[in-house]
Amino acid sequence: MQQHFPVEINSPEAMKAFGFKLSKHLSSGDVLALIGDLGAGKTHLTQGIAQALGRNNAVTSPTFALVNEYTDCSPELIHFDWYRMEAPEELLAIGWEDYLERDAILVIEWPDRFPEMIPPGTHCIHIEHIDGGRKLSYAIA
Ligand SMILES: Nc1ncnc2c1ncn2[C@@H]1O[C@H](COP(=O)(O)OP(=O)(O)OP(=O)(O)O)[C@@H](O)[C@H]1O
Ligand SMILES: [Mg+2]
Repeated sequence: MQQHFPVEINSPEAMKAFGFKLSKHLSSGDVLALIGDLGAGKTHLTQGIAQALGRNNAVTSPTFALVNEYTDCSPELIHFDWYRMEAPEELLAIGWEDYLERDAILVIEWPDRFPEMIPPGTHCIHIEHIDGGRKLSYAIA
């Protein structure tokens, strides 16, 4: 994974294509945290991952749902958005600990709301706005 970073990505289509490519490095049980401001491109990157895992239908920001489960993907893809959560208890209430045990890839938008809830070994992608696009960097939690 690390060898793909840092990288500049300058269109929404390229963001999806990058997610598609990254998915080859993800397997069941992996957690991917996407850290970036409003409109950074987190959902576009996730769309590319979902497409690579076999999903043909839309992938949208789960801002109101808090979590979307894509069971037509293989492995299954669980897409979280912590933006509207006020406290980690809300995350526990939707079954966070059970999700961590699932045979699935977990992708989180706004993980920086509750950094303490991110398990060790999480793949973290930081997305920054730069002139004309985005700069992505990588770290492991
Ligand atoms: N690499 C990129 N370069 C330029 N524009 C991009 C890039 N990635 C995404 N965009 C554009 O940025 C906007 C926001 O994308 P997206 O919804 O994926 O962001 P997000 O990080 O999920 O936002 P939110 O925090 O609101 O959920 C869209 O209009 C999209 O077309
Ligand atoms: Mg989003």
